[in-house]
Amino acid sequence: MNHTTSILLGFILSSLLFGFLVQGKNVTFYIRNSCPFLVWPAIAPNVGHPVIADGGFSLPSGDVKRIQAPGTWNGRFWGRTGCDFSSSSSSTCQTGDCQGQLACNGTIGLPPATLVEVSLQEGVDKPSFYDVSLVDGYNLPISVRTRPTDPKCLIRGCNKSVNKVCPQELQVVNKTGDVIACKSACLAFNSDIFCCRGSYKSPQKCKPSVYSKLFKEACPSYFSYAFDAPTPLVSCSPKAFVITFCPSKWSALQYSK
Ligand SMILES: *[C@@H]1O[C@H](CO)[C@@H](O)[C@H](O)[C@H]1NC(C)=O
Ligand SMILES: *[C@@H]1O[C@H](CO)[C@@H](O)[C@H](O)[C@H]1NC(C)=O
Ligand SMILES: *[C@@H]1O[C@H](CO)[C@@H](O)[C@H](O)[C@H]1NC(C)=O
Ligand SMILES: *[C@@H]1O[C@H](CO)[C@@H](O)[C@H](O)[C@H]1NC(C)=O
Repeated sequence: MNHTTSILLGFILSSLLFGFLVQGKNVTFYIRNSCPFLVWPAIAPNVGHPVIADGGFSLPSGDVKRIQAPGTWNGRFWGRTGCDFSSSSSSTCQTGDCQGQLACNGTIGLPPATLVEVSLQEGVDKPSFYDVSLVDGYNLPISVRTRPTDPKCLIRGCNKSVNKVCPQELQVVNKTGDVIACKSACLAFNSDIFCCRGSYKSPQKCKPSVYSKLFKEACPSYFSYAFDAPTPLVSCSPKAFVITFCPSKWSALQYSK
């Protein structure tokens, strides 16, 4: 066992143990669908954290679902679009699909999809972190706010629909030719320079690209690439979060020419 592995194992074991010893308080997530269409929210825990709300469900336009997570939960949220679970053979979503299942049950989704990444800690002295990431690409705008609302704890949605400004080489289109998602340059080209790997594995070496700048302009509050700076990471420790798909202005942005 090498050094990194043992540190990682130690970390996982101690967080599990900590979870057992300290019967912590829960955090509430309100998942809101403000899109004018059905969205299938999905949730995947990081290693060592439990699956919550079965990992996925359907959420009609205008609805809110309340779910609970342990106060030390780590994981991600995203939205799936264009799902059809009616035939068991070809049940799949056009974006964010998790192996064709309605309940993702711990599995992550197929990129590109806008990701809300959450790392919660208990206690006022230990802040919780969260961000919205386009590092794997974009499918829907998402906002994150706390309840009660605090402007310091807010991650805004986008000022433009990324799907509308997505260059052809990054586009994901459906059968009718509509752009339904936009890959990140890392996902599309899988090269070290866009993925901040290899000799580009540092903030000094991995600079914004023409593609990440396009994401940043559309969604200034999100991570547009791995070493985005100033880092759009928010640190707040509320008891409740509101995660909204297609927050305010979305319809206007989408339909105006
Ligand atoms: C805390 O959340 C878990 C799911 O993550 C749930 O099973 C449990 O009932 C919740 N506890 C309370 C007190 O709400
Ligand atoms: C969910 O995943 C767990 C752990 O992998 C497994 O034991 C369980 O059977 C799965 N549930 C469903 C409904 O697939
Ligand atoms: C995006 O919109 C917000 C208001 O919703 C505004 O404060 C901000 O300056 C805009 N950012 C850009 C880059 O247009
Ligand atoms: C393609 O996407 C557009 C926009 O989301 C949607 O209106 C249309 O119904 C989709 N077409 C198919 C075949 O799913």
